[in-house]
Amino acid sequence: MNGTATALAHANIAFSKYWGKRAYVGNYPAVPSLSLTLDAMTTRTRVTFDGSLDGDRLTLGGAAQSGRPLERVSALLDRVRAAAGVRAAADVVSHNDFPTAGGLASSASGFAALALAAARAAGLDWSVERVSDLARRSSASAARSLYGGFVELDAGPEQPTDAPLAARTLVPATDLDWRLLVVAIGDAKKDVSSSDGMIRTAEGSPYYAAWLEVAPRLHAEVRAALLARDFERFGAAAEKSALAMHASAFAAGVVYWQAATLEVLAAVRALRARGTAAFATMDAGPHVKVLVRPEDAAVATAWLRAVPGVGRVLEARGADGARLVDAEGGAVA
Ligand code: DP6
Repeated sequence: MNGTATALAHANIAFSKYWGKRAYVGNYPAVPSLSLTLDAMTTRTRVTFDGSLDGDRLTLGGAAQSGRPLERVSALLDRVRAAAGVRAAADVVSHNDFPTAGGLASSASGFAALALAAARAAGLDWSVERVSDLARRSSASAARSLYGGFVELDAGPEQPTDAPLAARTLVPATDLDWRLLVVAIGDAKKDVSSSDGMIRTAEGSPYYAAWLEVAPRLHAEVRAALLARDFERFGAAAEKSALAMHASAFAAGVVYWQAATLEVLAAVRALRARGTAAFATMDAGPHVKVLVRPEDAAVATAWLRAVPGVGRVLEARGADGARLVDAEGGAVA
């Protein structure tokens, strides 16, 4: 068996945050989430099953990987091998078009591209739902990157299950042009991964129960505002979701922010005070992502670039979901 396939997937940023897993196995989220798939950050991954290999191989941005990153990739490949009746090991070659060292890397685009390429390389003609479920079992945010535009992922059921759980598009990228300014902050020091951060929050935060209680309500608010195309209501609820997530993490000693993170949050509030609708969200790192209307993007970018400690400011817009490409990057019919 020597199947090969290449897939491309974009990162996504959640407005209603996934933070916390169900206690049973299978990587089911404890709360629902809603994100936008972004054009600015792309992963391209080629998977080749090769009967002559001794074991799986992973190359990321030209560097051979071992340890945890390779184990997580092999776990996904094992599921694909079991479903397809394939025994061969795989060679996985992956590139990000954004710097991984600065903490902006996202497992979402990586596992979305890997799931799609691996399933196809093994000869599985799976629906996007099945590939999304496969990606979710490795990294729940990756389930969302299979889809384009504004995407929702439900919480897993309360009772243990092994049933499929895939994401879905709520509003396609072409229907709504809201922009996200990715404000890069700080040195390249290694963050606590999302997986570890949420496990430490669940185990050690006195406010984790409060987060589990409020997250579905904030999600419902974000979702309703999106469907009503109400930018200000959407942004306000999204900012609350991010702050509540980080507050629960802080109380377990999981602190992702740096001084400049707070400076940017203050700058976003100042933008609002002078009449520009702008709302912030933060993930498992110091960077801030600022939601703006397209007509405000240039002014807000200049404003945020002037904040001390801010590096690059990248303007992202909605993108399509993951897709298969040929080795040169062209679309596969
Ligand atoms: C803060 O999807 O990286 O970005 O399922 O353990 O791989 P695992 O976690 P991951 O968590 C993402 C957390 C977040 C919020 C979000 O994207 O919803």
